[in-house]
Amino acid sequence: MVQNRLWGLGVSELKKWTGHWRTRLTRFRSLVRTVVSPAYLLALWGLVASWPAAAVGPDGAAIYAKRCAGCHDQTIARIPPRSALEKLSPSHILKVLDFGAMMAIAYPVTRDEREAVAKFLGKGAEDPPPPASAFCTPERRIMAGPVRDSWEGWSPSPENTRFQPTDRAGLNSADVPRLKLKWAYGFSGDVTAFGAPTILNGTIFIGSAGGVVQALDAKSGCIHWLYQADGPVRSAMGVSHDSGGITLVFSDQNGWVNALDAGTGKQRWKKRVEEHEGTRLTGSPIVHKGVVFVPAASWEESRSLDQGYPCCTFRGSVTALRVRDGVVVWKRYLVDPPKRTGTTAAGTPTFGPSGAGIWSAPTMDAKRGLLYVTSGDNYSHPATSTSDAVLALDLKTGHIAWSVQTRAEDVFNSSCLSKSPNCPDGSGPDYDFGASAILVTTTSNKDVLVAGQKSGMVYALDPDAKGRIIWQTRVGKGGTNGGVQWGMASDGRNVYAAASDLTRLSGKGGTVVSGNADLDPNQGGGLTALDLITGNKVWSTPGYACTPPRPRCSPAQSAAVTVIAGALFSGSIDGHLRAYSTLDGKLLWDMDTRKSFATVNGAPAKGGSLDGAGPVIAGGLVLVNSGYPRFGGEPGNVLLAFGVENTRP
Ligand code: HEC
Repeated sequence: MVQNRLWGLGVSELKKWTGHWRTRLTRFRSLVRTVVSPAYLLALWGLVASWPAAAVGPDGAAIYAKRCAGCHDQTIARIPPRSALEKLSPSHILKVLDFGAMMAIAYPVTRDEREAVAKFLGKGAEDPPPPASAFCTPERRIMAGPVRDSWEGWSPSPENTRFQPTDRAGLNSADVPRLKLKWAYGFSGDVTAFGAPTILNGTIFIGSAGGVVQALDAKSGCIHWLYQADGPVRSAMGVSHDSGGITLVFSDQNGWVNALDAGTGKQRWKKRVEEHEGTRLTGSPIVHKGVVFVPAASWEESRSLDQGYPCCTFRGSVTALRVRDGVVVWKRYLVDPPKRTGTTAAGTPTFGPSGAGIWSAPTMDAKRGLLYVTSGDNYSHPATSTSDAVLALDLKTGHIAWSVQTRAEDVFNSSCLSKSPNCPDGSGPDYDFGASAILVTTTSNKDVLVAGQKSGMVYALDPDAKGRIIWQTRVGKGGTNGGVQWGMASDGRNVYAAASDLTRLSGKGGTVVSGNADLDPNQGGGLTALDLITGNKVWSTPGYACTPPRPRCSPAQSAAVTVIAGALFSGSIDGHLRAYSTLDGKLLWDMDTRKSFATVNGAPAKGGSLDGAGPVIAGGLVLVNSGYPRFGGEPGNVLLAFGVENTRP
């Protein structure tokens, strides 16, 4: 395994190894076609379909047992179980090994072995290319809609309120009960749908687990263009309106940042902002005055499950790049470079400090010249003051102007879940911030910065007093899957926080069903509205128990929430997207997405759990991705667009 090769290496050797891996990646990059035409997809499909029957060659089952079973046969959160992988096609698994989530793991696996294990494991149907009918006709021009039909980036406002005003939403709370499915788009061959949609003048830009970015017509879901990135794309598009047109900047799960021409999908530049092989660029980039700010997190926490993995060396960071050419303006790491700190009981060297990854989109405070980020835990000792914190960075230099840590000494990694040797002493409790801070002006005309944590706490900080805590209120029990997980929303009166509080049956006398599908169908979830000025609860409503109870179902509401005037949208692991009245939390609308859909691009698709990026609303459409097996929920691969007839004259 890769990890064993790292045995006993110091930081300089680690760097050398990372460098070697990068050379290989660069070589691979030249093979990856960028703008994907239907003809290219057809050719690729033909190539995969014509694999030889592999009479002799490596044994896929043996490779699975040696390289994969250690993780994918475990009943542990954070790893999709073997049963989920078997739903994928062999070519999809190959894509994941080549330039997807398993790229680092697959490093020592030869081409033949990759093909063998992909064929052995993948029992799902091959992904057909989109038919010609899935593409827009020339008369449907890209971004030809009204400017108001837009939701740019993680939030329609750079202050990350996730509030869409009525004129842009094209929808009010009275319309909500009449929302119906307009169209569905399938992410061919994927088992997860986690990209955050961006809408620009009636065109949707959205990434996928298969690393394809698609430009879709909001009205019909037809495809304007497709772009193959170097890794799965969860981030929303940062949008830069410049003299040369509109540039989209997004990140992938392998550390690459891409800039594309929004009109054509042609690449302007791409750059790998983090050398660490465990990098995950999940938080969406944000653009301000020609500079894009890219947050970095990692899944090194999970790699520590292997007792031979030297834990840990990843450092959370923000990189500021010029949108024009990708030149780095500044870079800020949240922890100092790691040093060798000791040896585990298994004889593996340990490194630290590490962690403090940034999982969420940074928040813009143009008035004060600051960029706010929220950070995760440390993965190894020593603990730092920058983990589980809200930090204010100078927009021009990246210097830390102030930081407020809401949980000290949170040193944790996934090995602690199975009590294996890489777990640091006194571990936990894994109370990251996964949600962006929200900068909002209250009805008494005072700016506050609100942040919700996996601990289940919501904090209001004073941006004029170095983040002094004004109030704090508990909205959930908290845990490794949140508490507040991916995001809250605010309409200037209240802040709305959904709780995950995902609960597992294992360890509570329940039966582990299969893989990590041991979710408690009755525990978790809940929504709370807090008064922005006082932090007092205005209303709260519990999660919906799964009826009937079933595996892979939980009432947890870990997905980011979205608000329009009078209505709040929240997705759940149970597969439902629900809308609630912002006045009293009364249910206005309830849509079960956990079923099969006929798609406009002809790809077989079904919905599953809702998690990650929440709904996006613009131009009379409510967009939501369905399918998220990562933490034990239901797989799925569909983008759904809801609307009402005649929302606009
Ligand atoms: C060290 C543990 C580990 C090992 C070893 C490992 N995996 Fe994974 N695998 C993971 C984790 C964790 C994820 C989820 C990654 C993420 O956060 O994106 C994953 C995700 C995947 C996915 C993506 C599923 C999706 O959502 O599309 C595939 C496919 C996969 N692994 C295949 C393999 C194969 C094949 C092997 C053996 C060659 C392997 N894995 C070895 C931990 C591991």
